[in-house]
Amino acid sequence: MKVVRTMGELETAPGTGLVPTMGALHEGHRALFRAARAESERVVASLFVNPAQFDEQADLEAYPRDEEHDLQLARAEGVDVVFAPPPEEMYPAGFATWVDPQETGAEGTARPGHFRGVATVCLKLFNLVRPERAYFGQKDGQQVAVLRRLVRDLNVPVEIRVVPTVRDPDGLALSSRNGRLSAEERQRALGLPRALASAAREPNPVAAARASLNGLDPDYVEVLDLGDAKLLAAAIRVGSTRLIDNVLLEGEIQ
Ligand code: PAF
Repeated sequence: MKVVRTMGELETAPGTGLVPTMGALHEGHRALFRAARAESERVVASLFVNPAQFDEQADLEAYPRDEEHDLQLARAEGVDVVFAPPPEEMYPAGFATWVDPQETGAEGTARPGHFRGVATVCLKLFNLVRPERAYFGQKDGQQVAVLRRLVRDLNVPVEIRVVPTVRDPDGLALSSRNGRLSAEERQRALGLPRALASAAREPNPVAAARASLNGLDPDYVEVLDLGDAKLLAAAIRVGSTRLIDNVLLEGEIQ
């Protein structure tokens, strides 16, 4: 596995699958690498904690980083190239051009500027790596919707693939942020996947999820449209940790 830190060292090749990540890799990322490996001749992963998509400086600073562990996991999953640039490589002095997807609702409203940061860094990665397909987790369902619109609107020849959410045995969706939960907070956080799973079977899933999330004070409960699938999505705050999750309402994840 080759680890490169500058754009100049990145090579392009046909049949490439790209897995963009912010590191702190877990089983959810493993599933993305496996999906990419299964249908690509060459797998490129990026490890870059993108400062532009954090709306809170404290959240950026607290974001877990463990490059040695990440490289080991990527190597074990057969990743061919890891692109792990420093921030100044992606945002050099004078950087001033942004992709602003005008996304409102759910994360778009709760985290102003977040999708502008995501869309900008992903377009840069698509241009640098030139993948045929790029892989993202269902857990960030709205990110998938934003990126699918980006490649359509800006004619970027990349297929956006979605990989189902990986959960711990108790039902909590894997997230780099889960490590910040105390045992008691984790118990409370389980209310999120439980509420979404039971509400998805109700005639008015948004109202049903709101009713069962009552004590968890959700930022939002919304239906997200990915084109081929509809998701019931919500965000909650448990202590100082913000968690998002979603479940399939109709259609297929692909
Ligand atoms: O989902 C993520 O980890 C990030 O938003 C992404 C896609 C790597 C862009 O920084």
